[in-house]
Amino acid sequence: MENLNIGRSGIEVPFLGMGTWAIGGGSLVGGDNDDALSVKAIQTAVEQGIRWIDTAPIYGLYHSETVVGEALKHIDRDKVVLSTKCGLEWRHETPVLHKVVDGTAVYRDLSAQSIIEDVEDSLRRLGTDHLDVLYTHWQSPDLGLYPLEETVEAMMKLKEQGKIRAIGASNVTADLIRGYCRYGQLDVIQEKYRPADPPHRKSSSCPPAGELGVSVQAYSPLEQGLLTGKVTMETTFPRAAPGTATPASSLPAGSRRWTCWHKWDDLTGKYDCTMAQLVIALTARMIPGLHVLCGARTPEQVLDNAGALSIKLDGADAVRMKWDVDAIS
Ligand SMILES: NC(=O)c1ccc[n+]([C@@H]2O[C@H](COP(=O)([O-])OP(=O)(O)OC[C@H]3O[C@@H](n4cnc5c(N)ncnc54)[C@H](OP(=O)(O)O)[C@@H]3O)[C@@H](O)[C@H]2O)c1
Repeated sequence: MENLNIGRSGIEVPFLGMGTWAIGGGSLVGGDNDDALSVKAIQTAVEQGIRWIDTAPIYGLYHSETVVGEALKHIDRDKVVLSTKCGLEWRHETPVLHKVVDGTAVYRDLSAQSIIEDVEDSLRRLGTDHLDVLYTHWQSPDLGLYPLEETVEAMMKLKEQGKIRAIGASNVTADLIRGYCRYGQLDVIQEKYRPADPPHRKSSSCPPAGELGVSVQAYSPLEQGLLTGKVTMETTFPRAAPGTATPASSLPAGSRRWTCWHKWDDLTGKYDCTMAQLVIALTARMIPGLHVLCGARTPEQVLDNAGALSIKLDGADAVRMKWDVDAIS
């Protein structure tokens, strides 16, 4: 299995990472989990070669980081590429409300002081002395409030201190990528990138990142499980009116995208793989050097997803799958 670089950081890792948003629990991800099972899922990921573990303070309002910290007690730290995020917080109010999560108002704050506090808190929860990648989670809509130069300088200082090894930014525009690169060394961006999205909805940040030597990590490739084969043309979706439901086959084309996998049954046969594995392998083919970040709650899901590490998708099949997706528009 060939490793991919994370920008110019010198860190190399297999293309598939594990996201721990769902493991944090809470209403945004459909409820809480059995933490012992979550720890086992993270251990299984690393055993299977999924070495990049991604978390964030906001996932389960610190709970994901705490569970990842528990898992790290049972894993050789040097085997793990650990990323977490900064810039979303609920210690105090700021002018930029991000969203209310399970009754807690979460704000954006990309000031140097906030970033440094975020990192110290994350290191404590994760039980480690360094992060491999620190992402800014969501960007400020007002750079006058949190100048990019201050944000990047704070991250560069953390890097000089050995507290982080690589700088990342998430949910960025092309202009912001250039801004980060102007003030420091940006190694990776984390962007929503789903193979089933039509071309005009795919992140426009990826081409400029590539030109600047910045890696891309694609999140939510499975559309939170919808692209694993769970949604068929017969699946019914609850509608606004109580008691009514619409089968996927009669939904508008945009919503039907999540059922596009039903055309690829012959390919799961050809590669002797599951639909989740096929979709992950396709995602990895979409952009050269793309890192793919899949969430999972259980060891079974992790084992399934890890199977994608050994699939070698033919170019012709990847092209066909892209056409199939684009045809549903
Ligand atoms: N930077 C950002 O703003 C941002 C935003 C979103 C996500 N992320 C990161 O990206 C990671 C991945 O994104 P995601 O969690 O949104 O979506 P995803 O990878 O598209 O989907 C993950 C979900 O799909 C289901 N699943 C996974 N593997 C499966 C399998 N083999 N078979 C059946 N179901 C399976 C599980 O949900 P169920 O168990 O509920 O079915 C799992 O929680 C997150 O965990 C997080 O680390 C970052």
